[in-house]
Amino acid sequence: MITMMFASDENGLIGNGDDMPWHISSDFKHFKKYTTGKNIAMGRKTAESLGKPLPNRVNYVFSLSKTKGIEGGVKKEDGWIYIDHPDLLWTADNEREDFVIIGGSQIYSMFEQYSDRILWTEVHGEYKGDTYFKLKDEWPRKVKLGEDSEGRCTFWELTR
Ligand SMILES: NC(=O)c1ccc[n+]([C@@H]2O[C@H](COP(=O)([O-])OP(=O)(O)OC[C@H]3O[C@@H](n4cnc5c(N)ncnc54)[C@H](OP(=O)(O)O)[C@@H]3O)[C@@H](O)[C@H]2O)c1
Repeated sequence: MITMMFASDENGLIGNGDDMPWHISSDFKHFKKYTTGKNIAMGRKTAESLGKPLPNRVNYVFSLSKTKGIEGGVKKEDGWIYIDHPDLLWTADNEREDFVIIGGSQIYSMFEQYSDRILWTEVHGEYKGDTYFKLKDEWPRKVKLGEDSEGRCTFWELTR
């Protein structure tokens, strides 16, 4: 199953430079709950903003710059698995495994069409930043998974 996981404010804002526009501890816990033990995949810029691979997860990174000149388009380095094409996620070894796509904007835009499920954190209010993402497909089924205790965000599961 391919799950795409993101948080956005009421304008579709998701990022501010190499950081998140907000720091909401319940959203970090929610993210950890749904990604621990999973394969996660992200863009090179998001990987750089994390700084190091997230523990107890297999960390795939889409990057053309990091895989330039590498035969087969896969480079393992410092706990990251850099790949130059989305198709490389589905190798014979892992095609039945779950993947969670964790950003950023370029990678969400590429992966929405392949995703079975969206885990969306609706961040209430308007924040400052420079990176936006909005869903393009219809996601008619919407289930509320929970809420931040201080009312800062709501956790949703969307399916087709
Ligand atoms: N709110 C959230 O839930 C959330 C989650 C994650 C990130 N973010 C935010 O999003 C922002 C980063 O997003 P972004 O869109 O700027 O960057 P990004 O999607 O994280 O990474 C973009 C990079 O991915 C690689 N890439 C893109 N398309 C590719 C393809 N078809 N094949 C192979 N590699 C490809 C390229 O790397 P190369 O240049 O190396 O070739 C590109 O520069 C940050 O502000 C971050 O904090 C927010």
